[in-house]
Amino acid sequence: MQTMAIIGAQWGDEGKGKITDLLAEKSDLVVRYQGGHNAGHTIWVDGKKTVLHVIPSGVLHPHCTSVIGHGVVLEPENFLFELNRIKNVTKVTPDNLKVSETATVITSYHKLLDAARESQGTEKIGTTCKGIGPAYEDKIARRAVKVKDLFDKDILTRRLAVGYSEKAMLFKNLYQVEFPSIEEEVERLYKFGQSMEDYVCDTFSLIDNSLSRGKRVLYEGAQGILLDVDYGTYPYVTSSSTSASGIYNGAGIPNHKLEEVIGVAKAYTTRVGEGPFPTELFDEIGNTIQVKGNEIGATTGRKRRCGWLDIPLLRYAIKCSQLTSIALTKLDILSDLSELKICYAYEVDGKKVDCAYPGINLYNAKPLFKSFKPFKDDFTGKNSAELDQYMSFIQETLGIPVSIYAYGPDRNQIVFKKNLF
Ligand code: GDP
Ligand code: IMO
Ligand code: MG
Repeated sequence: MQTMAIIGAQWGDEGKGKITDLLAEKSDLVVRYQGGHNAGHTIWVDGKKTVLHVIPSGVLHPHCTSVIGHGVVLEPENFLFELNRIKNVTKVTPDNLKVSETATVITSYHKLLDAARESQGTEKIGTTCKGIGPAYEDKIARRAVKVKDLFDKDILTRRLAVGYSEKAMLFKNLYQVEFPSIEEEVERLYKFGQSMEDYVCDTFSLIDNSLSRGKRVLYEGAQGILLDVDYGTYPYVTSSSTSASGIYNGAGIPNHKLEEVIGVAKAYTTRVGEGPFPTELFDEIGNTIQVKGNEIGATTGRKRRCGWLDIPLLRYAIKCSQLTSIALTKLDILSDLSELKICYAYEVDGKKVDCAYPGINLYNAKPLFKSFKPFKDDFTGKNSAELDQYMSFIQETLGIPVSIYAYGPDRNQIVFKKNLF
């Protein structure tokens, strides 16, 4: 197998980083194609924790080239900070880390706008306040700064000037916040651009050449399908294409198709930020999962909302991204609970619905649960019958195999059910 994708099948934080790190061992390229440093991907190796935000989760394998594709929105200061931090952990050089010259730059104005809208706007999304939405707005409106613009002060000034007066009007008159002048922002970004230049290239050609030489390419999604700007629970979504289609827009698979699309799902469900969540738990069990699962966002430190596994949402995710198998994570967190349930369908206006199609108002969806005998596995020996029943139900109701399951954060706490790569 030459091409594979790791996609979040829920609302993010499913454990994509861990799965990507493991599969990167046998990959030549690991490619991020959307999102930015709103992502937080945690990897544990021999008890040592690494959190990545915009650098791909293959970076802990120096043989592997980490690629930040053109669909990513990149905040140069944060990127350089992360790069310096990761250099203490692993060998990263311009030979094994590449940034697309046409990735969109997140500027100070985007961060200020995101924060002002969240604190003063009429509808709070619960964003990470990293400037993601405003940067994508500028990209679509054709007024963004691209990474290659960072290397020439005149070009950078011209690009920042597009749309500046509109932003200045909002900062001065509507939000009443301080903001940098174009000259100040040019100086700031140019300086970061100089430190980044060696890493920047045409990543599309790199991927094309690698694929034509038979190299293995692993695409790493950020966020999850239910946060996709088109497929997700709009408006409570992020501003990029988090589903597999984002790969075609944000990096490219020249002359090839995706051979395996792994949807990563927790054995339960979590969500950070606002928006509907049919199986959300507000009781002691929800609290236990939150605490035991350490369900705290790696980027913002917010508590994640927790609930039972939601099959209708996963069925929808499978259809949106043509998932070929599921990587089921955090099974250990469900071990030894006093009760165990899976939502297999919803009741909506008196009718049973088994897929969370976009036409369904999720606020009105009453989850229908099947109860399971709780399992008490510590995953050191053979699986209990109860654990097997829980996993078989998931596999059968979803209609695609569970190719991987994980029972702890560390690299070795995992079982591969299918020979991948
Ligand atoms: P990502 O954004 O999808 O990469 O996921 P995050 O890294 O934000 O959140 C997943 C969290 O669960 C991280 O802290 C991981 O270390 C941890 N994790 C991943 N798989 C497992 C697992 O099977 N069991 C446990 N207990 N933790 C896991
Ligand atoms: P990873 O890659 C979980 C959520 C935010 C908010 C919404 C919009 O670690 O799975 P944004 O800042 O993107 O405009 O915020 O999306 N969100 C995430 N939730 N995991 C993530 O990334 C997320 N990235 C954004 O909480 O609800
Ligand atoms: Mg995360």
